[in-house]
Amino acid sequence: MARVAVVTGGTRGIGEAISLALKEAGITVAANYAGNDEKAAAFTERTGIKAYKWDVGDFDACAAGVQQVEAELGPVDIVVNNAGITRDGTILKMTRDMWEDVIRINLGGCFNMAHAVFPGMRSRKWGRIVNIGSINGQAGQYGQVNYAAAKSGIHGFTKALAQEGARFGVTVNAIAPGYIDTDMVAAVPADVLEKIVAKIPVGRLGQAHEIARGVAFLCSDDAAFVTGSTLSMNGGQHMY
Ligand SMILES: NC(=O)c1ccc[n+]([C@@H]2O[C@H](COP(=O)([O-])OP(=O)(O)OC[C@H]3O[C@@H](n4cnc5c(N)ncnc54)[C@H](OP(=O)(O)O)[C@@H]3O)[C@@H](O)[C@H]2O)c1
Repeated sequence: MARVAVVTGGTRGIGEAISLALKEAGITVAANYAGNDEKAAAFTERTGIKAYKWDVGDFDACAAGVQQVEAELGPVDIVVNNAGITRDGTILKMTRDMWEDVIRINLGGCFNMAHAVFPGMRSRKWGRIVNIGSINGQAGQYGQVNYAAAKSGIHGFTKALAQEGARFGVTVNAIAPGYIDTDMVAAVPADVLEKIVAKIPVGRLGQAHEIARGVAFLCSDDAAFVTGSTLSMNGGQHMY
C-alpha cells in the first residue's frame, strides 16, 4: 500500500511543490492549509491532491486533522511541517500578538503535528518527519526576532526528536531554505528584495521545486541513515 504523507501548508508555494514531489514519488498526500479556500480548491483541481483545513497552531485541531486523514487515507507515515507565517517588525514595533502568532504556528505547529503522529510511526517502526526551518533561523534577520526564534527553535526540535525516533525507524530532519520565489517573498518590498538577491552567490532566488526535491529525498527509504540533520538550500548565502 502507498505511504501516506501530510504536508502542512501544502496547497501553496513551497508546500505545493512538496505535495507534488511526494505524489510523484508514489505517496498518497494530504495537503493541509489554514484558510485560503480558493487557493486550496484550485490546488486540488490542478493536482488531484485532497486538501484539509486546520490551524497547525491548534493542538486539538492537529490531532483531529490527523485522525480524519488516517480514517480516509490510512496511517500517516510522513509529516512535512511546512506551514509558516511572518509577522515582521523590529522589536520596538513588534506586539506580543506578532510574537505569539509566529511562535504558535511556526514552532508550535511542529510540536502539535509530531505529537499527533509520532506514536503511530514508532509502533509501525517507520516514519519521516521533515521540518521546514529557514536561513533566518540559522543566521538571524533584522526585524524578525519572532520568526528567527521560531525557525531556530525548529532546528533544535529536530535534533532532539531525532534522538527519540532513531531506534524506531523514525527519522527527523530539517531543511533550511534561503530565499525562495513564493508569495511570502513577494511580500518583501522590491528594494529590500533586490539587496537580498545581490547577497545570494548563485545570483537568483530559489525555486520551490528545488526545496521539494530535498524533502522527497529525506522522506525516502534511501534516507534512512540521515536523521537530526539540517539541509541548507540557500544558493550559498549562508554556509555553516
Ligand atoms: N519563501 C521563502 O523564501 C522561505 C524561506 C525560508 C523558509 N521558508 C518557510 O517555508 C515554508 C513555506 O513558505 P512559503 O513561502 O511557501 O509560504 P506561503 O507561500 O506563504 O504559503 C504558506 C502556506 O502555509 C499555510 N499556513 C499558514 N498558516 C497556517 C496555519 N496556521 N495552519 C495551517 N496552514 C497554515 C498557508 O495556508 P493558506 O493558503 O490557507 O493561507 C499556505 O498553504 C514556511 O514555513 C516558511 O517559513 C520560506
